[in-house]
Amino acid sequence: MRKKTFYLIGSISFICWTIIICYLFVHKPLGKGFKYKDVTIQVEKLENELQSQLKVNEYLLMHLKALKKQIQETGKDLKRILEENPSALSIQTERKAINTEDTICVLLLACNRVTVARSLEKLIKHRNNDLSFPIIVSQDCNHEQTTNVIKRFGDQITLIQHPDQSDIFLPPREKKFKGYYKIARHYRWALNQTFHSFGCNTAIIVEDDLDIAPDFFEYFRGLYPILKTDPTLWCVSAWNDNGKEGQVANEPTLLYRTDFFSGLGWMLTKETWLELLDKWPRAYWDDWIRHPAQRKDRACIRPEISRTKTFGKIGVSNGLFYEKHLKYIKLNEKFVPFTKLNLTYLLKDNYDVAFLKSVYGSPSVSIQELLSGNIETNVAVRITYKTKDEFKRYAKVLKLMEDFKSGVPRVGYRGVVSFVFQNRRVYLAPIPEWKGYDTSWT
Ligand SMILES: *[C@@H]1O[C@H](CO)[C@@H](O)[C@H](O)[C@H]1NC(C)=O
Ligand SMILES: *[C@@H]1O[C@H](CO)[C@@H](O)[C@H](O)[C@H]1NC(C)=O
Repeated sequence: MRKKTFYLIGSISFICWTIIICYLFVHKPLGKGFKYKDVTIQVEKLENELQSQLKVNEYLLMHLKALKKQIQETGKDLKRILEENPSALSIQTERKAINTEDTICVLLLACNRVTVARSLEKLIKHRNNDLSFPIIVSQDCNHEQTTNVIKRFGDQITLIQHPDQSDIFLPPREKKFKGYYKIARHYRWALNQTFHSFGCNTAIIVEDDLDIAPDFFEYFRGLYPILKTDPTLWCVSAWNDNGKEGQVANEPTLLYRTDFFSGLGWMLTKETWLELLDKWPRAYWDDWIRHPAQRKDRACIRPEISRTKTFGKIGVSNGLFYEKHLKYIKLNEKFVPFTKLNLTYLLKDNYDVAFLKSVYGSPSVSIQELLSGNIETNVAVRITYKTKDEFKRYAKVLKLMEDFKSGVPRVGYRGVVSFVFQNRRVYLAPIPEWKGYDTSWT
């Protein structure tokens, strides 16, 4: 009996031991060098890259189809079209160069907001079948619902998807800002695709929450030659940070130079992109781009009346900022034929002389005089600020943006902020002997 019990216990122990060993063997990680998850990520990355490449090919095909249509509709033969536009077939000789000289690509960055449909509808409507503005939608986040919404636009747009969806490892105190890291990573990838894979020479960058003015494309098209010829310019922006109703003149043609990079619908050239690409930051790209090391004293063009307006981001912390400020930005409604206007007055040498003359040639008044409305002339006036705090105090009572980025106030040019107060042009300006921005002003 004791022998039987002994065998029984022995067998049970043996079975248990075998089970445990088997369990451990199956579930044990296969050593440090082999991570199943890494391989999956690699394979997914490759898959996504191949898919992006397919998109580029699709885009080329679309371009060829457009050319074919042109041949059919105009009855011209290919030879004739090529004579008129020698670069029309450049895609065949140089696979990546899909551009004709006047192509301006539109890059829309999307993520997980289905409201991207509203932005796309406006872009397509106001583009008015002008295929020299191809629309590329770059989607981050792999949000399926949003992908489906974008796909509904068919071949009116080209959808590419950011392949790198890997997690970003951050120290604990940075973790809550992970979104900013993902945005910077997506921007870098999408801009590289636009300029590198699609071969665009110029791009207009928009996001998934923008309405645009009817002359949005005309504005960028008209300013393109100015951006190309003036090396002291590095962007054209559609946005006026102080563009609220009542703070802008009803002058849709009025444009300014500004030292402030404002984004929200902006155009940049490939040359500028190549300069930024290698040092593109891991996060907070918009503050980074405003830093003197990037800006190098260059300016942007901005309109008096905005050509974009955000319709609000859902579930983002700037909800309050939207309710208090962005909601009131005036969107231009009147079409201005910018391509037919002489815009050379915006070139630095012409502009600076005239601008400084109108700012410092206008009578200086105190903030009290301005607020009380006790000013005898009807012309533009100037308010002088000498310190950062003084600027902020005035900006606050005048309901202007109060912040500085790398020492530059929003919409400022040579420190001057131009706006309308009680139907009068006002310049909030530093002293005439101004020597440059103080980057410690924040
Ligand atoms: C830009 O994109 C091309 C094509 O996808 C790729 O080969 C290249 O490495 C990218 N460059 C950078 C800096 O990401
Ligand atoms: C544009 O305006 C400038 C003056 O600002 C003038 O010198 C130039 O000749 C004009 N160009 C054309 C094409 O009219």
